[in-house]
Amino acid sequence: MTDVPVPFELVPPNFVPSRFDNHIQRRLSNMQGQYLDQQAYHSLLAEEDRLLYQVYELKRPELAGELLHGISIVHPGKVGREYYMTKGHFHTELDTGEVYYILKGHGFMVMETPEGSWAVEELCPGRVLYVLPRWAHRSVNVDPQEDLVMFFVYPGHAGHDYGTIEEQGFRKLVLEQGGQPAIMDNPRWSLPGAP
Ligand code: F6R
Ligand code: ZN
Repeated sequence: MTDVPVPFELVPPNFVPSRFDNHIQRRLSNMQGQYLDQQAYHSLLAEEDRLLYQVYELKRPELAGELLHGISIVHPGKVGREYYMTKGHFHTELDTGEVYYILKGHGFMVMETPEGSWAVEELCPGRVLYVLPRWAHRSVNVDPQEDLVMFFVYPGHAGHDYGTIEEQGFRKLVLEQGGQPAIMDNPRWSLPGAP
């Protein structure tokens, strides 16, 4: 972590930051229970614990005045008909948002609020998506070949709540249907607290 303001570069074609403090790699084994087709999940996992996505973080103190930022790279691929995706999370401090700037690839951001509102927005290079405070978010790569690469920035005190999403996933899924991405209801999902 630097304590003087110095820039870094995001160089095409892969956009890995020219400097970073933390490199996170998430594999199939980190996504237990998240994919709809559990049979496809377990048979893929038996073959190989594939790398699904990576995050390069520029560390800053986790304080309200700070902005945490970095690059996320979701690789192409599917588990059954469901595309590779991030775990997804609410921010622990619910009233914190996040900005994404899409550098490369094609995907969707799947979002929802604790009250059950949902939104799915398409991600393509040059597009900026502001994920509003209170909205959980997951990025999905729907391109058959290319990485989905995004720059993100969010408040230092946001924190990450993965547990809520781990329980039943997001309300909406992005699956391949007839060669195209399609948004579908997640049969495992019900409004938290509903009978
Ligand atoms: C930070 C954020 C992104 C994600 C990244 C990986 O608040 O939303 O940097 O952390 O896209 O996704 P998760 O954290 O859901 O594994
Ligand atoms: Zn976030």
